[in-house]
Amino acid sequence: MNKCNITEDTIYQCFAAAMQGDNLSTTAKSFVDVEEYENQVMYPEFSRWARKAGYPQIAELFLKVAGEEKLHATWLRKMYEDMGIPPRGEDTQRAIDALATIRKNSDALIEADPKTVIEKALKVAIKVEQREYRDIYPSFRDQAIKAGQHDAAEIYQRVINSEEQHAHWFEAALKELEVAA
Ligand SMILES: [Fe+2]
Ligand SMILES: [Fe+2]
Repeated sequence: MNKCNITEDTIYQCFAAAMQGDNLSTTAKSFVDVEEYENQVMYPEFSRWARKAGYPQIAELFLKVAGEEKLHATWLRKMYEDMGIPPRGEDTQRAIDALATIRKNSDALIEADPKTVIEKALKVAIKVEQREYRDIYPSFRDQAIKAGQHDAAEIYQRVINSEEQHAHWFEAALKELEVAA
């Protein structure tokens, strides 16, 4: 049996699917994939956990953010149109495989300790969003500015602002959860 002790690190490993590639083109393609992954897999799964754990408002927040991640994928894909359909990154596939293990164990864990699981999910979400708005997309934006691609830089900035908002929403939800009895 594949036993999975869900720590914040395990969840982060599973859900922080994206790595930066060697060049802007591979990294960029992999990030369209990551946005899709967050939209289709990560945040819907967190939402399911929150609902099951008895936190419907947090479940709604995860779904709302999932919807916005779809929008990011659409913006980025449009920008990379001439690159064709992005292939699935290796890291994303690894993350999807790992999710199967987590899924098998999460239901039992939620029953045993619902609050802790949702706290961990929120902390992972914050980490993922912070990495995107502080490191990943600013580096794309700066590369675009250097290359004189001001339209692209503007789109990256839009994504940065949105990811920052997501991080703040999750931080607020976590704070609320922590003070709740
Ligand atoms: Fe995003
Ligand atoms: Fe986000």
